[in-house]
Amino acid sequence: MNRTREHWTSRMGFILAAAGSAVGLGNVWRFPYVTGENGGGAFLLIYLGIVFSIGVSVLVAELIIGRSTQLDPAGAFRKLAGGAWPIVGYMSILTAFVILSFYCVIAGWTVAYMIKSITGSVLTANPEEIGGVFDAFITDPLEPVLYTALFIGLTVFVALGGVASGIERAARILMPALFFILLVLVARSVTLDGAVEGIAFFLEPDFSKVTWETLLAALGQAFFSLSLGMGAMITYGSYMQRHDDIAGSALAVTVLDALVAVLSGLVILPAVFAFGAAPTAGPGLTFITLPSIFAQMPFGFLFAALFFFLLAIAALTSAVALLEVVIAYFMDEGSANRKKVAVTAGIATFALAVPASLSLGVMSGFTIGGKVLFDALDYLTNNITLPLGGLLVALFLGWVLKHRGEEEFVDGSTLAPALVGAWRFIIRYVAPVAILLILINGLGFI
Ligand code: PFF
Repeated sequence: MNRTREHWTSRMGFILAAAGSAVGLGNVWRFPYVTGENGGGAFLLIYLGIVFSIGVSVLVAELIIGRSTQLDPAGAFRKLAGGAWPIVGYMSILTAFVILSFYCVIAGWTVAYMIKSITGSVLTANPEEIGGVFDAFITDPLEPVLYTALFIGLTVFVALGGVASGIERAARILMPALFFILLVLVARSVTLDGAVEGIAFFLEPDFSKVTWETLLAALGQAFFSLSLGMGAMITYGSYMQRHDDIAGSALAVTVLDALVAVLSGLVILPAVFAFGAAPTAGPGLTFITLPSIFAQMPFGFLFAALFFFLLAIAALTSAVALLEVVIAYFMDEGSANRKKVAVTAGIATFALAVPASLSLGVMSGFTIGGKVLFDALDYLTNNITLPLGGLLVALFLGWVLKHRGEEEFVDGSTLAPALVGAWRFIIRYVAPVAILLILINGLGFI
């Protein structure tokens, strides 16, 4: 279906929207605990190294696919190469949809925790009690499902406004708010008594802690954080004007994404160390360790509510991007209008989110390959389809599009001619080899 395509209103609009997609639960919730589990400073350095080489290069590749075709991921591959390549597009769209379903469940928890921080019901200093509070909440058959529904509703609401007056406008309001809240929280955290130890853990590299797993964790985190391998940046690229600067914009988005990850580390790790908690608590770091810390701080409930509000904002602009992948596909390939497509996609997301949420509680007896549904969906996407999507995008640009891709790379950018050689090398050799390694590891072959 070809109709007049929607576009971002300006380069800044694109950068904010794409940064909104990239900055999400991955930065604020996942990055600090993965850093904590992987020894701190050395992980941070490796992560930044990967983000500014492979990450930004694959981001550029996805934007090229989108901008040059002005189509959804499946349509884009069909237009550029045909053959079996559209399958890559279909796989990314499906991956985006599946991730969206459990992403909205976690996002629902953040909204719940924001409200419950104010009422005080999730803030207790007793470490044994607080784990129980979180468990009781996420295994409840009704409450988390209601918060998930609310969050999906918000996501659909933003999408209904369209590219410029929905997605871009939300990003223009929410991203500055996010930065502001983040800075307030950093200031609070680094001035706590004993924060220095946490700052040292985060910033001083100790390379004796680096293992093979550290590299793989950093690569996986970089992909997820930059929203790569699931069609989101192809879709957002398709709303760029035909000659908009790709290299400069991609660099700006990457810098913003990395900055939020680093600032989130500076919120969470100093607080964790100041209160003598363990940085290796894993996924529970933000929902269990952190509330117990807030409970011990003067005005802790306010900082807690601000923190979960920040998480909710970050999650919203990311969920909007995931939903947009699905919307763009149906709008480009079908005849449906945005409203119908967005509402239907929202309902379908909810239909998968409900069993995902219940699988943590009443439906935990039902497992796939030994994992409850929530974990199975997470595993399937993060460890398999997402790296596979990224790998195929790199191979496609490096070995199928070749010169055409390089022409697109330099088109519209004053920065790009100086970078095209490095980009070609990374996209042809470095990225495929490195991604193949994550994939093999994800599948448990090594
Ligand atoms: N980049 C997001 C995060 O770090 O939380 C996750 C994500 C959002 C991935 C949107 C993909 C996407 F389309």
